[in-house]
Amino acid sequence: MSKMILANLKMYQCTKEEVNNYINKLKGVKNKFIVFPSVIYLEKFIQNNFICGVQNASAHDPGPYTSEISVHALKNIGAKYILLGHSEVRQNMSEDDELINAKIKQALNNKLKVILCIGENLEAYNQSQTKNILKNQILKALKNITEEIIISYEPIWAIGTGKTPTNNEIEDIVSYIKSLFDYDVKVLYGGSVSEQNINQLNLVPNVDGFLIGKAATTPGSLIKIIEVAEK
Ligand code: PGA
Repeated sequence: MSKMILANLKMYQCTKEEVNNYINKLKGVKNKFIVFPSVIYLEKFIQNNFICGVQNASAHDPGPYTSEISVHALKNIGAKYILLGHSEVRQNMSEDDELINAKIKQALNNKLKVILCIGENLEAYNQSQTKNILKNQILKALKNITEEIIISYEPIWAIGTGKTPTNNEIEDIVSYIKSLFDYDVKVLYGGSVSEQNINQLNLVPNVDGFLIGKAATTPGSLIKIIEVAEK
């Protein structure tokens, strides 16, 4: 089975021209990856038949929540996936495990497929605390949840830094994460995946796909990554 490829466009694309250009260059491979665009352009991607996810959403049912975006609305316009627990959201928007748990429940109730992002910071990595941190994040985020979700393992120190763990380290962590579930959970790797390192990362035997940030904003790079991951 080919691997899942997720393009997390974060807040990189800001103009219609950038988005149109991106869509034009990638329409030939639109069935081979899931794009998480700025929510402003979500409908544009959906109209062009891309498989779409969102980068975050409200934990609440529709109602008096100024500035928040309802999962119900996102599902209604055609989003299929949602990223939750991304480290940039945990840090910049002070999301804790309890809120992430509420958001996962809200997303599952609305039949979105959830990708839960987990990862350790550099200090925890250096102190060999990675597995403890990940287990804690999983237990708290998935409290009272039995539906199947997807995990993306993203060491915080690898995101946007050009650094990655070794293949052996990723393999070990991915098999540890899988051992915590009683179903065949899909586990992705994210953090500085690029066209330069995808050949090597693709050799990790138990990874089910990749979550790509910066490199996914360049259509040529994303196409190369997809080609390699398909092998
Ligand atoms: P990056 O981001 O590929 O730019 O390191 C990955 C992510 O944050 O999902």
